[in-house]
Amino acid sequence: MGLLMFLVGVVIATSLGESAAPRRNVLFLVVDDLRPKLGCYGETNMVTPNIDQLAAKSVKFERAYVQEAVCSPSRTSFLTGRRPDTTRIFDLVHYFRHLAGNYTTLPEHFKNNGYITQSVGKIFHPGTASGHTDDYPYSWTFPAYHSPLLNYANQRLCPGPGGQLYRYAVCPVDLKIVPGGSLPDIQNTDFTIEFLKNRSMDHKPFFVGMGYHRPHLPFAYPKEFLDLYPLSKIHLAPNPYYPPWLPEVAWTPWDELRSWEDVAALNISYPFGSVPLDFQIKLRQSYSAAASYTDAQVGRVLQALDQYGLADNTVITFHGDHGWQLGEHGEWCKHTNFDIATRIPMFVHVPGVTAKEAPPGRMFPFIDALDKSLKFQPEKSSLGEGYSSDAFVEAVDLYATISELAGVDAPPTCPENPLKIPFCTEGASFVPVINNLTMTSHSNDVTSAGKSFAWKQAIFSQFPRPGVHPGNTSMNPVLEDIRIMGYTMRTVDHRYTEWIAYDHTTFTADWSKVYARELYIYSSDPDEDVNVAEVPAFQDLATFLSKQLKAGWRSMLPTLRV
Ligand SMILES: *[C@@H]1O[C@H](CO)[C@@H](O)[C@H](O)[C@H]1NC(C)=O
Ligand SMILES: *[C@@H]1O[C@H](CO)[C@@H](O)[C@H](O)[C@H]1NC(C)=O
Ligand SMILES: *[C@@H]1O[C@H](CO)[C@@H](O)[C@H](O)[C@H]1NC(C)=O
Ligand SMILES: *[C@@H]1O[C@H](CO)[C@@H](O)[C@H](O)[C@H]1NC(C)=O
Ligand SMILES: *[C@@H]1O[C@H](CO)[C@@H](O)[C@H](O)[C@H]1NC(C)=O
Repeated sequence: MGLLMFLVGVVIATSLGESAAPRRNVLFLVVDDLRPKLGCYGETNMVTPNIDQLAAKSVKFERAYVQEAVCSPSRTSFLTGRRPDTTRIFDLVHYFRHLAGNYTTLPEHFKNNGYITQSVGKIFHPGTASGHTDDYPYSWTFPAYHSPLLNYANQRLCPGPGGQLYRYAVCPVDLKIVPGGSLPDIQNTDFTIEFLKNRSMDHKPFFVGMGYHRPHLPFAYPKEFLDLYPLSKIHLAPNPYYPPWLPEVAWTPWDELRSWEDVAALNISYPFGSVPLDFQIKLRQSYSAAASYTDAQVGRVLQALDQYGLADNTVITFHGDHGWQLGEHGEWCKHTNFDIATRIPMFVHVPGVTAKEAPPGRMFPFIDALDKSLKFQPEKSSLGEGYSSDAFVEAVDLYATISELAGVDAPPTCPENPLKIPFCTEGASFVPVINNLTMTSHSNDVTSAGKSFAWKQAIFSQFPRPGVHPGNTSMNPVLEDIRIMGYTMRTVDHRYTEWIAYDHTTFTADWSKVYARELYIYSSDPDEDVNVAEVPAFQDLATFLSKQLKAGWRSMLPTLRV
């Protein structure tokens, strides 16, 4: 009897499978302001066991970059599969559908293909930047979900002098006394778990975007996570000073950090003053604790995916929306073109491809970093190896990659001036890299299904400024204030940047008006401390890289070898 029912089940499943192309669900995890400060990226002091476990069952990208190191421009870029020059989104105010074109977004594409699409937490930048709806109903089947506790997020949550509450950047909290007894990322995670439970019952294909707020400022997290990071183990950035040859136009005065009451009280001079060293240590400690708190929430979602029987048919992507400066170059937050601001953690899990199969419900067991009885030791963990790739990938590539992995049509490459074309991309699917899991940094070739590709040899990002000298609109100018665009290209050996005139009324850059240049040579200067762009000995190199930069991303697209 049992066997007969089993056979009937197999027959039904098979015929369903034949009537529709095999399609996978998508869990799209995005973490705000997370740089690759994770155990799986070799940061041995970091306690991020759940994210590390996912990485160990994924392809992990060592060279993944965003197209602009600030929230909405980066997110709009990877959610539309287009670069900032085409989304025209360089600030946190404007909405691409008003300013550029009626582009079919990544979740919208899945919705058009019969998926239930749901946004939880921060996927699009909320507010005017996504039409006050997080791009609903275009992108999402249901209205975007935000924890009601978000209303408290920027209020006074942090205990300080006189037993009062303050708006602090460094803000370990006691869950027993915060409003609602919880925090937004915890509630958003609860919602995603319920969403997954519902899908396990109705069996509808889904694309769920789960966007975590931490480790974005304020560093508000349950105070227990601070215990994972004794102050004695926290070190300063290796280069916490203004690089002597850095052009001022490249500098952000990090107003975002200065606005918190604990930082404002330090009276740091504007725009070049340094954060006192003891406070730098505290910021680095709390950034780490906030990352561990997010790790615990990621672990809860992965465990739910596993327990509801969805793990074996769900593609999981994980990435940060940009990096974060923790005192490197004397800088804080994002808002620059440095590697530390543009490089992100990124990995892609494909069931049956990037990990060995596990018994049902055992792919992603939750790892509780706060459980002292476990004596969790990241370096001694037996999470497995996973795959790691040195191939250059960009956040703008995720659209085509996820489409291909899930089994929906991947968008074609956009032509020039694609404002009127709803469905195309300025990224490239990196499925060939995933298929070729053994590629090394010395190999330019990737094979995929019998085809051989010459992979891209550079990535491209940009950042706008209102003028050459740092002022209170420099950090992230609104479109109407933009006068300069810093275009940057990163190759294996170099980073090259030109800060050039930009006309925000016509959205055009003028390569003949160069305000400043930067050139970093990684063989002698891995941290980008010494700008040699104006050193006579390097002019031939600068000229060569300048040509490549102007040729742009199209000249670096992976090409099929015949
Ligand atoms: C944008 O595209 C959507 C989906 O194709 C369509 O329903 C909508 O009318 C379009 N909006 C505009 C302003 O063209
Ligand atoms: C799950 O399904 C129930 C019953 O239909 C519904 O009330 C609830 O809103 C759903 N929750 C989510 C997160 O989708
Ligand atoms: C900052 O300036 C305020 C007002 O001038 C002063 O009361 C305070 O002591 C100063 N704090 C520090 C750390 O210098
Ligand atoms: C990866 O690409 C290299 C170079 O083309 C090739 O030699 C190797 O066999 C490929 N590996 C896999 C797993 O496809
Ligand atoms: C920026 O500085 C200008 C000139 O000092 C001042 O008028 C303006 O209010 C400041 N804006 C902000 C956002 O602080």
